[in-house]
Amino acid sequence: MTYTRRKFPSTRLRRSRMKEFSRKMISEHVLTVDDIIWPVFLVEGTNNLENIDAMPNVHRYSIDVLLDTLEDLINLGLNSIALFPYIEHDLKDQDGSLACDPGNLVCRAIKAIKNEYPQLGVICDIALDPFTIHGHDGIILKGEVDNDLTLQKLNAQALVYADAGCDILAPSDMMDGRVASMRSSLEDNGFKDTMIMSYAAKYASSFYGPFRNAIGSGKLIEPKNKKSYQLDFANSNEAMHEIAIDIAEGADMIMVKPGLPYLDIVNRAKSEFKIPTLVYQVSGEYSMLRSAIKSGILNEEDSIFESMLCFKRAGADAIFTYFAPYLLKKLNE
Ligand code: PBG
Repeated sequence: MTYTRRKFPSTRLRRSRMKEFSRKMISEHVLTVDDIIWPVFLVEGTNNLENIDAMPNVHRYSIDVLLDTLEDLINLGLNSIALFPYIEHDLKDQDGSLACDPGNLVCRAIKAIKNEYPQLGVICDIALDPFTIHGHDGIILKGEVDNDLTLQKLNAQALVYADAGCDILAPSDMMDGRVASMRSSLEDNGFKDTMIMSYAAKYASSFYGPFRNAIGSGKLIEPKNKKSYQLDFANSNEAMHEIAIDIAEGADMIMVKPGLPYLDIVNRAKSEFKIPTLVYQVSGEYSMLRSAIKSGILNEEDSIFESMLCFKRAGADAIFTYFAPYLLKKLNE
């Protein structure tokens, strides 16, 4: 290794760190607006902008308010968004039937967005949890989320979202075989150009807590956690197997989630597979940073930008972050 030939004082690494211009000149990673994906919560109604208790400065938007909000953000360079619906309890059922209804909130939002801003990338979660009474991502049979029954539902959901105009389907359910079955039903139904971004390395994490408050999925009813389908956070090799399988099944890009506590997984995924790799700075990470900022413990701009550059350094190509509106403003200053 050539590292060992460099010696003090002929080498002083501080020389190139001393001035701002040279720090900028040699920086290995940069964050651009194109790297930022804004996860957005949707709610029914008009002129609705709701606060989310567990996520300060994050809101639920009715479609009309979202369309207005998007105009400014697109002017700042917003490149893509990811949609997550808050569904009224009365509209949920055991099987999440509304997920496959072409008139549901997500489909109406996709159409409205594509109609007004056709160039904006639209990503949609494929999973049943916003629509099920029990809050699980799939269909429950004999006390457990049933893999193969769930696949049929997810396919149907994928097709209605693709038909509404969604650009990227992002299965976040962690069922086995879902990418292959979704890919083949997309091909069979004339959606050959609809992309699949697989949440391949999605861990059973407590950092999703505030998100469940945001989409109103509440406490999980039996089973009480998602450990029978999401990855065990003790494991890293298992995540590589998930990713390899999803790529073989036809995923165009893969995702690691959560983000900051899982940078080793981002780094390993990118270096082993060299495929477009996304990372999700999830709700719990957002809320932790926000509350530390709010109480004056961390500096807002410094800590948020540092978290972004760490994702880039680890190997992420793009980042889902609730800080998107803030970042877009700052990047344009
Ligand atoms: C649903 C889904 C979850 C998140 C994204 N899609 C929650 C979960 O799996 O329980 C979490 C996002 C966040 O915490 O910001 N399958």
